[in-house]
Amino acid sequence: LKSNGQVTPPMGWNSWNKFRFNVSENLIKETADAMKKQKLIDCGYRYIVIDDGWQSKSLGKDSLLLADEKKFPNGIESLVDYVNALGFELGIYSSPNKLTCGGYPGSLGLERIHAKQFSDWGVKFVKYDYCPARNKEKSNSGELILKRLKAMHNALSDIDSSIVYAICEKGWVSGQIPNARSYRKQIKITPQNRKELFHWAPELGTMWRTTNDINPTWGKIMQILDSQEGLATLSGPDSFNDPDMLEVGNGKLTLSENRSHFSLWCILTAPLMLGSDVRNIPDEILEIITNKELIDINQDKLCKQAEKIYDENGIEIFLKPLLNKEMAVCILNRADFAQDLMLKWEDLGVDEEEMILVRDLWLHKNIKKEGKYISTKIDAHDVMVLRISKN
Ligand code: GLA
Repeated sequence: LKSNGQVTPPMGWNSWNKFRFNVSENLIKETADAMKKQKLIDCGYRYIVIDDGWQSKSLGKDSLLLADEKKFPNGIESLVDYVNALGFELGIYSSPNKLTCGGYPGSLGLERIHAKQFSDWGVKFVKYDYCPARNKEKSNSGELILKRLKAMHNALSDIDSSIVYAICEKGWVSGQIPNARSYRKQIKITPQNRKELFHWAPELGTMWRTTNDINPTWGKIMQILDSQEGLATLSGPDSFNDPDMLEVGNGKLTLSENRSHFSLWCILTAPLMLGSDVRNIPDEILEIITNKELIDINQDKLCKQAEKIYDENGIEIFLKPLLNKEMAVCILNRADFAQDLMLKWEDLGVDEEEMILVRDLWLHKNIKKEGKYISTKIDAHDVMVLRISKN
């Protein structure tokens, strides 16, 4: 019952993190032009998604959604043509409520009509965002929420099974919001029971949000990272935990923090949705988001999500199994100071006898293996990412 034909995590760009409701035809066109020019498309960034705020405040004839005429004077269909001509697919946003989170008309009860409309326009990605607060819906049961999410799933899959269905409900189905100002907290969420929050999701969505909204601060990024513990077994081909869109290049994140954020999302097998103004990307940020060796880790066809295997003195190590017995290892320094490390290969989850090649994916260099240890220095809030091939 999957509603798409995508195997590896979707990659692209979404308007929300940087532009909020300030979306427009010009912004989307300029974004597509820039992503083409900067070869982001060649790295796999393929979906250009207009988040909330594209709609007109009222529904049109036959309950059809209308694009805001000032923001999108030529409508969505012509925008699809524009991005398609450059090789991209267009994505769009709606909600299983009367109103979206931003107060625009939603798709509740109109799922078939809106799904058909999206597909007629040529849209290939639908972000579907549950917004109880905006709609003053306080006591919906998990079953009711699931019924609404399924209604759009069924509508989309009946029309076009290649559409990516990106569910955004953040734990409401289970009555839980991870790391939240939740007013429905019933049980303590632990890494052991966390996956129960989203057990229903792989059957319905290509991807599903597992957290509240991200923001471009190191604290938030670390909080989200911690809240992914326990979810790894839900990840697989066509099924991705979504720790929210990237903030790489936004706010005041340092270069180290940007590098760590991107590396962590790559090994978590997260969808890689860029969230900055790609019309003006500083070279050092472009270098991060176009790191092909890192993207290859993210797009590995096994689609396994990394798990934490080591956690001491601010050093955390994550291991992501790859195809052909290869693996990716990410060593994160959460401390506010640089650390010199001597780690046993064993701590990285590898048998030194078995390894044949170790490659540093930020330095783009093979590493000489000497004995039982790897020694390195990692800056504050920075990472080292290795790709390890075994016999
Ligand atoms: C919610 C979502 C965000 C964004 C906004 C739009 O907060 O979590 O990602 O889509 O709604 O209103």
